[in-house]
Amino acid sequence: MKIFITGGTGFVGRHLTSRLIGEGHTVTVLSRSEKASDRLPDGIYIVQGDPTVGGTWQESLKGQDCIINLAGASLFTRWKPDTKRLIRESRISTTRNIVDAIESARTRDVVLFSTSAVGYYGFRGDEALTEESTPGDDFLARVAIEWEKEALRAEEKGTRVVITRFGIVLGEKEGALGQMMSIFRKYLGGPLGSGKQWFSWIHMGDLVGAFLFLMAHREISGPVNLTSPNPVRNEELARALGKAMHRPSLLPAPGFMLQLILGEFGSVLLEGQRVIPQKLVDNGYVFIYPEIDGALQSLIMD
Ligand SMILES: NC(=O)c1ccc[n+]([C@@H]2O[C@H](COP(=O)([O-])OP(=O)(O)OC[C@H]3O[C@@H](n4cnc5c(N)ncnc54)[C@H](OP(=O)(O)O)[C@@H]3O)[C@@H](O)[C@H]2O)c1
Repeated sequence: MKIFITGGTGFVGRHLTSRLIGEGHTVTVLSRSEKASDRLPDGIYIVQGDPTVGGTWQESLKGQDCIINLAGASLFTRWKPDTKRLIRESRISTTRNIVDAIESARTRDVVLFSTSAVGYYGFRGDEALTEESTPGDDFLARVAIEWEKEALRAEEKGTRVVITRFGIVLGEKEGALGQMMSIFRKYLGGPLGSGKQWFSWIHMGDLVGAFLFLMAHREISGPVNLTSPNPVRNEELARALGKAMHRPSLLPAPGFMLQLILGEFGSVLLEGQRVIPQKLVDNGYVFIYPEIDGALQSLIMD
């Protein structure tokens, strides 16, 4: 397959592109950076351009079989008004430009995988959430709704669109796990706030595995939750992380401190959602890492 990826230089993108190249696909990555090749495996074509701005890069979508849209500014920071604008705009404009390019290329056989996140569902206590559940109404939920809506415009024109709603991706050294590990390494790890909030996660190996599964299963479209079938409460995550790292996991991080340091983003860590990957399970995807203990032990070597 010929595959075009935005945001391919990021945490998820680098793992996904390595696997796709290994499987024999032809991969092109769009990047704003002149040094993108330093961050990517050999054998990848690089197109330089900013996905939030239309331009000549859009011509590279012609003749592609699959487009994977991962681009977006990082959420892992204190959210000031400018940050929130960037979080939203970097996702909505990129998706709009991709869909416009698909339309002008008139390539109906292409499949668009457009990222979304479990934040779509908002904060829902203990409710088990599937792809059929209604969306939330906080900042992240509203961004996800708009992000998905832009991608689904391509469906109206006959393109197969898969909306991949990612849980928190657990991968070696980076992302959320990298940040949590640095706290546990200092013997400061423990549950956040009450510890009762749900944490919907997925191992990088399953995230990449699910992409390959969804590419092969052309009958699947629309939203798909990319999460483990066993979300855990935050206190369970802390226990499993402490066990895998041989560090204590009892020091609670008080909620008000997190909110003081991280503002609105702190609230996201103190609330969560219990998401079930109903579509993947119903269609027969077999998880490599369904349980948090096994997932963390495979990723943590110290
Ligand atoms: N990792 C997770 O746990 C997780 C969970 C839920 C959802 N997601 C979503 O999945 C996608 C990929 O996640 P990731 O962890 O791989 O993200 P990442 O490491 O932050 O990489 C995202 C990529 O997007 C591009 N990008 C960054 N800022 C941008 C901006 N302002 N405008 C346009 N492009 C920009 C960058 O590519 P260039 O610099 O090469 O252009 C970057 O490599 C993101 O949209 C993220 O929100 C991730």
